[in-house]
Amino acid sequence: MTTATETKLSKLPKVQTALPGPKGKQVIAYDAKYMSPSLTRDYPLVAERASGAIVEDADGNTFLDFAAGIAVCSTGHCHPQVVAAIQRQAAEMIHIAGTDFYHRHMPEFAEKLVSTMPKTHNWKVFFGNSGTEAVEGAIKLARYHTKRDKLIAFYGCFHGRTLGSLSLTASKSTQRKYFGTLLGGVEHIPYPYAYRCPLGHTKETCGGEVIELLEQQIFKRLFAPEEVAAIIVEPIQGEGGFIPAPAFFLQELQRICNKHGIMLILDEVQAGMGRTGKWWAYDHAGITPDIVLTAKGIASGMPVAAFIAKDTVMDWKVGSHGTTYGGNPVCLAAASVTFDLIQGGLMANAEKVGNYIFSKISDWPSRFKIVGDVRGKGLMIGVEIVRDQRTKEKAADLRDAVVNNAFHRGLLTLGSGENSIRMSPPLIIDQEQADCAIRIMEEAIAEAERK
Ligand SMILES: Cc1ncc(COP(=O)(O)O)c(C=O)c1O
Repeated sequence: MTTATETKLSKLPKVQTALPGPKGKQVIAYDAKYMSPSLTRDYPLVAERASGAIVEDADGNTFLDFAAGIAVCSTGHCHPQVVAAIQRQAAEMIHIAGTDFYHRHMPEFAEKLVSTMPKTHNWKVFFGNSGTEAVEGAIKLARYHTKRDKLIAFYGCFHGRTLGSLSLTASKSTQRKYFGTLLGGVEHIPYPYAYRCPLGHTKETCGGEVIELLEQQIFKRLFAPEEVAAIIVEPIQGEGGFIPAPAFFLQELQRICNKHGIMLILDEVQAGMGRTGKWWAYDHAGITPDIVLTAKGIASGMPVAAFIAKDTVMDWKVGSHGTTYGGNPVCLAAASVTFDLIQGGLMANAEKVGNYIFSKISDWPSRFKIVGDVRGKGLMIGVEIVRDQRTKEKAADLRDAVVNNAFHRGLLTLGSGENSIRMSPPLIIDQEQADCAIRIMEEAIAEAERK
């Protein structure tokens, strides 16, 4: 069998059949027979193999991947060093429950993660398998440590789909509908969304009113701050539309948390691991969280998640929390190489190519009637699509049309929020691939605009 790395797929996309092609159609029909209908497939890509930033479908069409498995494949698909590490470790030891026994991969990778954290504190790590597990663990740790139960999260946020994390998620009501009573004691407040700031503030200044709401209304009328276990926030909202929180806003949250002994939990599941040009999106604000959550881009597609907490916070006793698979040696072998590759150049590349892309697309709102906003950091690039720039009416149909047009031209992107597009390519992309993606997006937007 030929593997994707042996195939050496070309750097640029080529679509040569109608989409989906005949083999793709068969897989889609097969899938419909057996798979849960809850999965949201944005468009009919039927992936067969992948290498670098290119995905090949079942009919031999190739696509430039600006979705990266939802910001997961940070080192590109099947990076040879990641593949070799997985193969090596799979031949040595696939599993030994890290909750029962020791293996060196856990402290080795934990040490690497801790090296990214502020040096003012000591940090400890717990491994899981998915973003939602990291969120669940962090909720438990915050409650355990503070002996409080109230939680504050933000509208538009996405923290996962298991019942605890779903209680925090406030992205789309379909994600909560019919799932009954969720965790009690959760309050949501607005996220600083500069493009739609009701007070007309800028990307730097939006959100002061939310801080006031928290201190003057929530703390005085709903929950006394000494009842609040944690405030959980995405420094850049991912599913919500790639919306960065202003630095001052995150700094204000830290001030409030420090003042009241509330845990500041930063959900970096989508924004973290070098994607924004720094290890963590919160690094751009220079703050020190109590707990950081990571998953997605951490292990190039192998299921690894972690929460990293100040050692004074991770004070729970033996048996309080555990996992069968978390910290699996094969997954951590992939994570360890992924970390080295990100540190060894991919994080810098994310900043360089990200800046290049923003320099080419920041003027889209003046060139395209349906582009309302372009925003993000590094290779976390959001484009908001509107029907009318003046009224900012959200245009989900036009957004879907742009995503679909791009797909038919060989570019994979994803929708985000009600009417935004997210581009989150692997951190390995170069300028030629960036130019290709920009050209395809411009054609895709122009085509949607003509309709
Ligand atoms: C910020 C954030 N947190 C948590 C999650 C949940 O991660 P998972 O789907 O791995 O459970 C996601 C997934 O998109 C996310 O973007």
